[in-house]
Amino acid sequence: MDKIVIEGGKRLSGEVKISGAKNAALPILVSSLLADGWSTFTNVPDLRDIRTVCKILENHGATVLLDENDSSVIRINGSGLNNFEAPYDLVRQMRASILVLCPIVARLKKARISLPGGCAIGARPINLHLKGLEKLGAKIELKHGYVEASAEKLIGAEIYFDIPTVTGTENLMMAAVLAEGRTILGNAAMEPEIVALADVLNNMGADVRGAGTSEITINGVDSLQPVNSRIIPDRIETGTFITAAALTKGDITITDCEPSHISAVINKFELAGVKIKSEKNTIHVQGQDVITSVDVKTLPFPGFPTDMQAQFMVLMCAANGTSMITETIFENRFIHVSELKRLGAMIKVSGNTALITGGAQLSGAPVMATDLRASASLILAGLIAKDSTSVSRVYHLDRGYEALEKKFANLGASIKRVPE
Ligand code: EPU
Repeated sequence: MDKIVIEGGKRLSGEVKISGAKNAALPILVSSLLADGWSTFTNVPDLRDIRTVCKILENHGATVLLDENDSSVIRINGSGLNNFEAPYDLVRQMRASILVLCPIVARLKKARISLPGGCAIGARPINLHLKGLEKLGAKIELKHGYVEASAEKLIGAEIYFDIPTVTGTENLMMAAVLAEGRTILGNAAMEPEIVALADVLNNMGADVRGAGTSEITINGVDSLQPVNSRIIPDRIETGTFITAAALTKGDITITDCEPSHISAVINKFELAGVKIKSEKNTIHVQGQDVITSVDVKTLPFPGFPTDMQAQFMVLMCAANGTSMITETIFENRFIHVSELKRLGAMIKVSGNTALITGGAQLSGAPVMATDLRASASLILAGLIAKDSTSVSRVYHLDRGYEALEKKFANLGASIKRVPE
């Protein structure tokens, strides 16, 4: 297993290119199961979660071709789809595997998918995915740790999500596109990844309207065609580089990104005193000597994303004053706090609120990554900590950040990956 070793104190500068978004790529690659024939996806990030979803699609009978010359191009042919079962060994590697549930029921009339279970950041139930699929006419049973779903025919219905769920909305969109009649998804998630999936489905011949608002209307069609699609930029990777520039008082130009997808994040950085200039697909960040404390509450899009909470907390550790971060999406998403404290951060957690006293001089230490975004926050902390920080268990990082340490090294960070 590798670890990332950082010598803190370098000011970052230069240009960094943002990769395709993991959380857009996952449902979009899965959507290839809905059509016979070759779909081509470009700007796919080279990540462990992407390799996992490819294995899952192959397990169901799809053919997956990776481009030998360009790892960001993946071709998938869904015409071989024949296996309705996703075993525990595959699903436990990535919770988002549950995204195959609805497409498989829509095409094979039944699915048997292992229940994903919880993860470090929370219990993460899938009850809303199941309730929605049931409303579309599927019979659902939970047996021996598996969801067993069957439906001779899916029929459009009105589904209201008690909580806006990102993968739940995506899953049900992929059932409704092939259901008979009209489906309305109320209180739907509004994330850019939902809009990206809707665009792909519409290019396949589906009729999905209202994606990006809280009500999505889907008129079912008989069949869909394969598609060519470019994955949208990763807004969380973008936010992570903004944090790095702000923390190291650096000067970074972030290219190939989509500023409108992170308006709430940019707003908080500006309140913290960071100078940000956004153009069409570029963000220029100039860190300032003084970072002002700002309170943050995580919310569904267009609010401040939970996936940026750990990174922003590191910025607040370096701010001049006290700030409060409230996590409202996941019940256990402060696991990075105890590791940040090992570096000298002054943070008190009470329930879903963290009180951060800024101004601590962080000093390097060995720390352990506990989930994807926590890993990024520890590396960010390492960039400003005195002396050496080593972050172990970086397989979490490799799930969702493409070559993060190489991108930081290109910006002037002293950072390397070493075998543990
Ligand atoms: N929820 C339920 N029941 C459900 C589904 C969700 O109670 O059936 C609750 C969850 O427990 C949570 C809230 O609803 O409290 C929102 O969860 P959501 O379903 O939106 O999360 P998700 O779809 O499982 C996606 C991202 C996460 C990101 C969240 C929130 C993907 C593959 N994953 O997860 O990304 O944090 O939305 O924005 O899109 C990450 O990339 O590090 C990551 C964890």
